[in-house]
Amino acid sequence: MITINNLHKAFKVGERVLEVLKGVDLSIKRGSMTAIMGRSGSGKSTLLNIIAGLDKPDSGTYMYEQEDLTTKTLNQLADFRREKIGFILQNYALIDTKNVFDNVALPLKYSKYPKAKISHMVEDVLEALELEKLGFHSVDMLSGGEMQRVAIARALVQEPEIILADEPTGSLDEHSEQNILGIFKDLNIRGKTIVVVTHDQQVADACDETIYIKEGKIRY
Ligand SMILES: Nc1ncnc2c1ncn2[C@@H]1O[C@H](COP(=O)(O)OP(=O)(O)OP(=O)(O)O)[C@@H](O)[C@H]1O
Ligand SMILES: [Mg+2]
Repeated sequence: MITINNLHKAFKVGERVLEVLKGVDLSIKRGSMTAIMGRSGSGKSTLLNIIAGLDKPDSGTYMYEQEDLTTKTLNQLADFRREKIGFILQNYALIDTKNVFDNVALPLKYSKYPKAKISHMVEDVLEALELEKLGFHSVDMLSGGEMQRVAIARALVQEPEIILADEPTGSLDEHSEQNILGIFKDLNIRGKTIVVVTHDQQVADACDETIYIKEGKIRY
């Protein structure tokens, strides 16, 4: 489903150039559940952002199915992301002037579903994440773990074919973590591809495969 070859990404920080990805090779099969681990600062979020089409590599190839995404513009990548990807960002990126329900409904804004169908889809996913009582709460009043679950609900609401999650259980208690792992497992059994960046061995153990980023490259 995803084939990445010799991917490079560097950031300019003042006068210095920080090389983060230095020839990443990676392949992700449709229907798999993969954990990405590695030290803080090793480039996990950088890689996930590129896979999601939020950022572009400096060189290398990134094939999604038969499409070469390295040739796309950022606008084309935004369309790709909207259509295919459920992304749970490390910092949640919720819109704090909107309530929980509207945050979760956001990815459906561009869809052609009728309003009642959208309500059902949002209610279902809120229930799955045990957020149904918080639908009309403003997100800036929520706890960290609740915000994280809203971000997860938003990523899942349109049933994307691939779910990319950047430390989705970082601020969750044991019960919520188990619940989310269960939801991921369930989605995976139903054929969704899942890539999850994590520091948590329990999360990695729930995946079929764990890959490590070290010194800008992938180690299995
Ligand atoms: N836009 C940017 N501009 C400059 N430096 C950046 C930028 N994005 C990331 N970096 C740097 O690149 C390195 C890799 O960052 P990245 O966020 O990918 O790490 P990470 O593996 O996700 O770490 P963590 O586990 O702490 O989330 C870090 O040193 C970071 O400071
Ligand atoms: Mg990160």
